[in-house]
Amino acid sequence: MSSEHLVVAIDGPSGSGKSSVSKAVARELGVGYLDTGAMYRALTWWCLEEGVDLDDKAAVAQAARDLPLEMGTDPAQPAVRVSGRDINDDIRTTRVSEVVSKVATNTDVRPVLQQRQRDLMSQVAEVTGGVVAEGRDITTVVAPDADVRILLTASEEARLRRRSKELHGHADDHAVEATRDQVVRRDRDDSTVSDFTEAAEGVTLVDTSDLDFEQSVQAVVDVVERARQQA
Ligand code: DC
Repeated sequence: MSSEHLVVAIDGPSGSGKSSVSKAVARELGVGYLDTGAMYRALTWWCLEEGVDLDDKAAVAQAARDLPLEMGTDPAQPAVRVSGRDINDDIRTTRVSEVVSKVATNTDVRPVLQQRQRDLMSQVAEVTGGVVAEGRDITTVVAPDADVRILLTASEEARLRRRSKELHGHADDHAVEATRDQVVRRDRDDSTVSDFTEAAEGVTLVDTSDLDFEQSVQAVVDVVERARQQA
């Protein structure tokens, strides 16, 4: 390991199981957890609340600097608060999901949130001895020097099935089709600013298409353990 704390960076597309797997891995390793997607969602929610025009790049970037955001980093209960209000549910609504890509692809916003993410990662690692951070550009931009870097992926079919179960409670043909636009379009929009479809050099690819949740967690923990042994 390169640092005194264990830093694990996990990227991946929607429906790869990234968030639930990353939380479980952080719990298993006994370290903190950072959901960077929740930060783009929190900023989007705040802009909608405050009436900031999402097409006004500079105004949204200013909102990113001003955002009174507190990120919970306990993997058992990662609360997201703005001005003290818990907005964990609000940021997962369709209202936010439909427009979050506009904020996440704002090139004036990204450096602001990326720096906040690096600061949070160091703070939580200091307290808990390490951090698992997940997103789209953690392995490449936010923490390219992390001890362990993983791209968690799954086939489009598997990702659509999972997201459909999350959103509609089942994955029949109709529900999968209804999910397709959200998942595929959003990933296509998001990938214009960071490529999370292919593993960058030094990044380990973990394909969860044929793995259940426990197997996916174990596959990631195995990568971390192997890296620890080699250190
Ligand atoms: O993982 P998620 O669906 O909660 O992410 C929300 C949005 O933020 C989505 O549009 C992808 C984007 N995102 C990003 O651009 N970079 C990150 N590190 C994390 C998320």
